[in-house]
Amino acid sequence: MERFVIIEGSVKLSQEELKITRTQAIPTPWGEPSAPFEFTEVEDKEIIVLPRHGRVCRKPPHLINYRANMWAIAQLAPKAVVALCSVGGIVEEDKPGSIAVPDQIIDYTWGRETSYNKGDSETITFIDFTEPFSEQLREKLLDAADDLLIPVIDGGTYAVRQGPRLETAAEIKKLAQDGAHYVGMTLMPEACLARELGLNYAAICQIVNLAAGIGLSSSKIDMKDFSDVSDEATKKSLKIALKAFESF
Ligand code: HPA
Repeated sequence: MERFVIIEGSVKLSQEELKITRTQAIPTPWGEPSAPFEFTEVEDKEIIVLPRHGRVCRKPPHLINYRANMWAIAQLAPKAVVALCSVGGIVEEDKPGSIAVPDQIIDYTWGRETSYNKGDSETITFIDFTEPFSEQLREKLLDAADDLLIPVIDGGTYAVRQGPRLETAAEIKKLAQDGAHYVGMTLMPEACLARELGLNYAAICQIVNLAAGIGLSSSKIDMKDFSDVSDEATKKSLKIALKAFESF
């Protein structure tokens, strides 16, 4: 049976939409993934969910073992991997609740393990990362959203910040000047590890808040204020991913 992986973000996918039938821990030489993998079948496909932040203990973005997560995913040999992620919107017009399929990344994180290369082989392998996401998978996600009549933003640059704190208004201004459209904390090093492993990887972002200092969010950001829109946007994103998997 063909396998597809969904990396769940900070919003939990509900059992109603995806009935998990079994879980399996997958140990790796890089340590433990965030949680046991969760398996279900949809039509004739196996859908496997990895809760990026863990299931029981919730791991903040800077403490996630991305190398273990992506290594374990590669052992499953999936046809595609769709990463779900909550982001802040840097473009004022992209209101909370909007969904985006980004096409670029700027990495501002530090101190995270970004490679499987331990420096113990005779050659250094440099991976191409010009396009950080699989264009084939991105197209499939966009077509699926079209079929489902769910509006999505095609492309845009995801700025990956270290977190777990949110940004200052000045930092967001700088990210906007750098050309970023969305800000989050998790797609790196996830995306470059996926590339090292040759995974067919793309992301669907749920804009859950306007980033610091953008539009009306000039005072404090309280994520709880956005839980309804993020739940709704996550449900739609799951539908898009499942629809896209049908086209493989
Ligand atoms: N900043 C960084 N990460 C985020 C945000 C944000 O505003 N919203 C959701 N994830």
